[in-house]
Amino acid sequence: MKDDIILQVENLHTGFLVDNVPLEAVSGVSFSLKAGRVLGVVGESGCGKSVTAHSIMQLLPKYGRITEGSITYTRATGEKIEIQKLRRTGNQMRQIRGKEISMIFQDPMSSLNPVYPIGDQIAENIREHEKVTKREALDRARKLLEDLEIPSAAERLGDYPHQFSGGMKQRVMIAIAMACNPRILIADEPTTALDVTIQAQIIALMKKLQREHGTSIMMITHNMGLVAEMADEIAVMYMGRIVEYGSIRQVMKSPAHPYTQGLLKAVPVLGMKKDRLYSIKGSTPSLVDRPAGCEFASRCEYATEACRQVPRAVEVEPGHQVRCWNYKEATDNG
Ligand SMILES: Nc1ncnc2c1ncn2[C@@H]1O[C@H](COP(=O)(O)OP(=O)(O)O)[C@@H](O)[C@H]1O
Ligand SMILES: [Mg+2]
Repeated sequence: MKDDIILQVENLHTGFLVDNVPLEAVSGVSFSLKAGRVLGVVGESGCGKSVTAHSIMQLLPKYGRITEGSITYTRATGEKIEIQKLRRTGNQMRQIRGKEISMIFQDPMSSLNPVYPIGDQIAENIREHEKVTKREALDRARKLLEDLEIPSAAERLGDYPHQFSGGMKQRVMIAIAMACNPRILIADEPTTALDVTIQAQIIALMKKLQREHGTSIMMITHNMGLVAEMADEIAVMYMGRIVEYGSIRQVMKSPAHPYTQGLLKAVPVLGMKKDRLYSIKGSTPSLVDRPAGCEFASRCEYATEACRQVPRAVEVEPGHQVRCWNYKEATDNG
């Protein structure tokens, strides 16, 4: 079961129609998530991580659309479901969303309802998918909060979201996402808003839950250090494409794309002064004027004439792919 693919994304293109102009935020992304494993998806802000996640969950806004490609989810029974073919609000998607595939959002406040106690919010999520009494659901909610090491869990069920600190709120979000014991958890920058110590605690808790429940996780973050802590495989995204993909060991040990090398250099080391931290020069181009050829070329010290063409994915070693014409030079000097 271990190496079975539970989610396969193939050539995904997702776009938005903004003022009648189509913008493509995800441009031909392919990856697979294996059962019981953690896939890290990294990249700077705006590279299409959340849009990829929202495509999988069918949570795009009305003016957003999957224009090409497929998202195949394999149920526990072995049945394969092409998510992009389901209606967003149809029964099948509602069954999958929250129960089989669930998501932790970047901003906990926007997904918790301020006017309901958190116990009710967790219980409601359970009762949406399973036939249990309110009392049973609340009991499970309490157990989940205990698993997530929230002190005085039983009393805290009656508290409202504003009574929780940022870190505790994020634990509640994890509890809601894990309430129905999903097979896949998509965690979209689950710790970005938190300080470093709290981040470490949340990551440790997620690892524990993942081990105990065998959940497959897609861990989205702009933090390379965090991915190294948790993930088995890593996909590095830039401007809606995966520019490097491989096992954590392969990519950390021999990053082949100049962008990946830059992200790794930018990982803060404990005790290092913030102003000494490396950052990749320039910024991500706008989707409105997407450059022709390699989108990273304008920021890349290895750019050559060849980079006027969009690079093909090449295999550096088995299972390790990169989209860069000059990866050999970059690897030698990086
Ligand atoms: N609802 C939307 N409408 C229009 N453009 C969007 C929308 N959501 C995201 N985008 C654009 O798509 C690109 C990818 O965004 P996103 O996936 O949110 O990036 P991130 O990697 O930071 O999660 C960005 O250029 C962003 O501006
Ligand atoms: Mg995002």
